[in-house]
Amino acid sequence: MKFVPFVFLPSLVGAALPPGPGPFGNEIIAQPVPGALEFVNPKVCEVNPSHNNSNATNAIQSAIDKCGDLAGGGVVLIESSLVLYTASLWLKSNLTLRVAGKLVGTATGYGNKTDPTNTNATDAPVVYTRRNSEMMWAHAGLVNGGRCVRLKDPLAGWDDCAEWSVLENVVLDGGGTLDANAQGWFLDGQDDFESAWRPMMLDLLWVRGLTIRDLEITRPGYWTVHPTFSDNVRVENNSIITTGSNTDGCDPDSCWNVYIARNTFDNGDDCIAIKAGRDWSGLMVNISTRNVLAEQNYYLKGHGVSIGSETSGWVTNVTIRDSELDGTAKAVRIKSMRGRGGGVADVVYRNLTGVVEDAISLSLNYHEADPTNDTATPEIRDVVVADLDLRVTDDGSGTRALYSSSNYMECLGLNDSIISNIAFANVKVALDASDADDLDASCQYCTGIYDDDTDPSPCFNATSFSSFSTSSS
Ligand SMILES: *[C@@H]1O[C@H](CO)[C@@H](O)[C@H](O)[C@H]1NC(C)=O
Ligand SMILES: *[C@@H]1O[C@H](CO)[C@@H](O)[C@H](O)[C@H]1NC(C)=O
Ligand SMILES: *[C@@H]1O[C@H](CO)[C@@H](O)[C@H](O)[C@H]1NC(C)=O
Ligand SMILES: *[C@@H]1O[C@H](CO)[C@@H](O)[C@H](O)[C@H]1NC(C)=O
Ligand SMILES: *[C@@H]1O[C@H](CO)[C@@H](O)[C@H](O)[C@H]1NC(C)=O
Ligand SMILES: *[C@@H]1O[C@H](CO)[C@@H](O)[C@H](O)[C@H]1NC(C)=O
Ligand SMILES: *[C@@H]1O[C@H](CO)[C@@H](O)[C@H](O)[C@H]1NC(C)=O
Ligand SMILES: *[C@@H]1O[C@H](CO)[C@@H](O)[C@H](O)[C@H]1NC(C)=O
Ligand SMILES: *[C@@H]1O[C@H](CO)[C@@H](O)[C@H](O)[C@H]1NC(C)=O
Ligand SMILES: *[C@@H]1O[C@H](CO)[C@@H](O)[C@H](O)[C@H]1NC(C)=O
Ligand SMILES: *[C@@H]1O[C@H](CO)[C@@H](O)[C@H](O)[C@H]1NC(C)=O
Ligand SMILES: *[C@@H]1O[C@H](CO)[C@@H](O)[C@H](O)[C@H]1NC(C)=O
Repeated sequence: MKFVPFVFLPSLVGAALPPGPGPFGNEIIAQPVPGALEFVNPKVCEVNPSHNNSNATNAIQSAIDKCGDLAGGGVVLIESSLVLYTASLWLKSNLTLRVAGKLVGTATGYGNKTDPTNTNATDAPVVYTRRNSEMMWAHAGLVNGGRCVRLKDPLAGWDDCAEWSVLENVVLDGGGTLDANAQGWFLDGQDDFESAWRPMMLDLLWVRGLTIRDLEITRPGYWTVHPTFSDNVRVENNSIITTGSNTDGCDPDSCWNVYIARNTFDNGDDCIAIKAGRDWSGLMVNISTRNVLAEQNYYLKGHGVSIGSETSGWVTNVTIRDSELDGTAKAVRIKSMRGRGGGVADVVYRNLTGVVEDAISLSLNYHEADPTNDTATPEIRDVVVADLDLRVTDDGSGTRALYSSSNYMECLGLNDSIISNIAFANVKVALDASDADDLDASCQYCTGIYDDDTDPSPCFNATSFSSFSTSSS
């Protein structure tokens, strides 16, 4: 695909620092990336061949330990007839966790979460991880990747881990269900709603070659699929179904070379949210996200196909295309805020069709905040939005959810960080017949170009270009 020829605007005063490096160096892998290496005759470790188990933790973890880290590959198999409950599991390299049946968390998050005798909470033990795009202690996921094996001495605050275990060639597949059974993290215990360190469901740190396919993935306590500091990641043909606050579908976090295709997303927060670290911790860790392609996905409920708001290490070279939306809050959504730093650049949203509440939101005011200093002011630039055919249902009355000011588009930069080089080509947004009464747009500190096929006209400050080509090359 050819990028629209951009008009280069004067560079900004106090621009964010350049993108951080990749987690495993700066190698770009051609899209679609292959994901984990497939082994020809892997060793197979079957778990509980014939019976269900209300706590199969030891059986599954020992199968992982037996079949993992083998040069010829290994498969831990959960047959389709089985429902196995488990506490948190830790994967190994060259390993496929093949769930044909159902793998269910042992009720993590229910009851008194600080009571050490409550296995409902302690079955997801507290570990050092990256939660919410920030290094911290939090409950472990249902399934986990690399773990911190040695802490820094003295502790650094922004990342206290001196040494991580690193994995390669990890596959989750099998056609079955991963169910974290973690609704307890937000349905009860409202007292420790945020402070309880709610777990990521698939907390896959430091994996080189990761494939997640053919699964139903459901009931997380926080974000659902969370590849972090990983390279060559493939998320394909899954149904990621969640309800509850902050239950994002898939959040690649400081990852390079990510392919997300043919999944169904139905989520309590963002369907996809591409991230690269948050605030001080994110700036200091400074690992970017780069080369992400999401295509042929189906987006139902959820807050959007999003980038941000955690942009501290920079998110660059992202394409989101060829997808249908049905009831999603936003189609195009890029967000950051003062304090995050970093930014988002070289993004294409293309060929997105269907019904959404609001169509397009680009904002550096995700939450309004006072200026901090130059390095913590984020940027958004070089974004192509093309071939959109959307109907919006937001009727513009009452308070708008999700910090959006307008149903057609908003583009909200900062006085010291103008959102720039935005290009709209053949963007068509109309009111849905349901209950929308007006199309509205709101722009501040935002510049770009648009073509004659775009309707309505965007509200950003347009340069003299009235038409341009976005044809493939
Ligand atoms: C992040 O890494 C890039 C590339 O090494 C570097 O230029 C930049 O200064 C770093 N940013 C921060 C906040 O340290
Ligand atoms: C961006 O992604 C495309 C598609 O994967 C890749 O071919 C290209 O090399 C990447 N460019 C940069 C600068 O990362
Ligand atoms: C396991 O439990 C499920 C659901 O209750 C049931 O359908 C299945 O037959 C059980 N499997 C075995 C092997 O007992
Ligand atoms: C399940 O088994 C693991 C490992 O033996 C144990 O730590 C955990 O407390 C058990 N959970 C429940 C709910 O019994
Ligand atoms: C994984 O498999 C590859 C290819 O056989 C091998 O080179 C590598 O050592 C294996 N890794 C581990 C951790 O066993
Ligand atoms: C564990 O969770 C279940 C709900 O799944 C609940 O009935 C039970 O009371 C909880 N146990 C404790 C010790 O809180
Ligand atoms: C939860 O357990 C902790 C530790 O045992 C205890 O201090 C606290 O009072 C309990 N909270 C409630 C609400 O029972
Ligand atoms: C997608 O996953 C389902 C199981 O959820 C499986 O039946 C189907 O064959 C998979 N499709 C492809 C193209 O692999
Ligand atoms: C500027 O922000 C960076 C990153 O948040 C922080 O490390 C630094 O201490 C700040 N500097 C000042 C003078 O506030
Ligand atoms: C646009 O996306 C749809 C899927 O939503 C796909 O069927 C169609 O082929 C795409 N169009 C082009 C021109 O790629
Ligand atoms: C820019 O906006 C901030 C509030 O976000 C304000 O404090 C500051 O004075 C403004 N700067 C200029 C030059 O207008
Ligand atoms: C467009 O430019 C004018 C004049 O410089 C400025 O007053 C206005 O705020 C700008 N609007 C946007 C959306 O950037």
